[in-house]
Amino acid sequence: MEELERLIREEIQREGSVSFARFMERATLEPGLGYYATPQRRAGRSGDFMTAPELHPILGAAIAQLATATWERLGRPATFRWREFGAGEGTLLLTVLDYLARERHPLLAALEVSVTEANPHRLADLAAALKQLPAGGPPLVAAGSPPIAGIVVANEFADALPFHIVVGRAASPGGFAERRVTVDPVTNALTWAEGAPDPRVADRLAPLMAGWPPLTEGQLPRSRPQRRIGPPRWGRNSPRGSFLCSITDARGLTYGTLPAEWPAPPSHIRGIELPPTCSASLAAAT
Ligand SMILES: C[S@@+](CC[C@H](N)C(=O)[O-])C[C@H]1O[C@@H](n2cnc3c(N)ncnc32)[C@H](O)[C@@H]1O
Repeated sequence: MEELERLIREEIQREGSVSFARFMERATLEPGLGYYATPQRRAGRSGDFMTAPELHPILGAAIAQLATATWERLGRPATFRWREFGAGEGTLLLTVLDYLARERHPLLAALEVSVTEANPHRLADLAAALKQLPAGGPPLVAAGSPPIAGIVVANEFADALPFHIVVGRAASPGGFAERRVTVDPVTNALTWAEGAPDPRVADRLAPLMAGWPPLTEGQLPRSRPQRRIGPPRWGRNSPRGSFLCSITDARGLTYGTLPAEWPAPPSHIRGIELPPTCSASLAAAT
């Protein structure tokens, strides 16, 4: 049995069961062991899956155009930040920089970069790749540092974050229970269990549920009820810029952009729900 599974089973032994969000959090982010916490490359041709920027630089070119248009609209601020969540080794950023360099675009001189990336190995790759660029590339700044005008990007990030699963149960308060992970006492295999929802999940779901038809018995809703995506909180510095978040789901890629009208997200962004881990990352932008 792998070390990570042993640790998760230990926690289940102690607690009886864990929420799927907790299970996924450990499976993906457990320091040194989780899927997104080891030196092994996950995205890309040598990894397990391809993301859009790994596939072709056209996404980078399109986002570069969004960035230049935003920069122009804001009156060409002297400093313009590329703020990226789940940046991996920086493939998307590098294609954007490559596009700007080939266009000899003046935005390049105004650009600074701030990334949130859970994997320290990918973060090191990204920093090294920037250093390889002519003149060391744009400066890498800490996530918390103000101003800002800029663009916030999260490509295939939200779907990598842990989420809770609820299931329609007429007999439970509110009409739903939470799916949890436990160990089958007979086979010793990891298996599903059900329990009362985490109070934070229940609190967030209750008002939403009030506006929905009740879940049918056993129904697994598709939304992520923990936290509503919104613009990152920027403290006292009022934000100016663009927000771009892409989600991959079973039906393929969908993109949402949030133009300069922060903090009023358009409805297609407002509908996307994110778990607390993501909110923590977004809050790190303050
Ligand atoms: C599916 S990959 C996408 C990588 C890149 N954005 C792309 O499009 O190629 C998800 C990325 O999010 C990172 N990640 C996962 N959970 C995270 C978290 N809670 N905070 C920051 N980064 C996270 C992973 O390490 C990984 O680099």
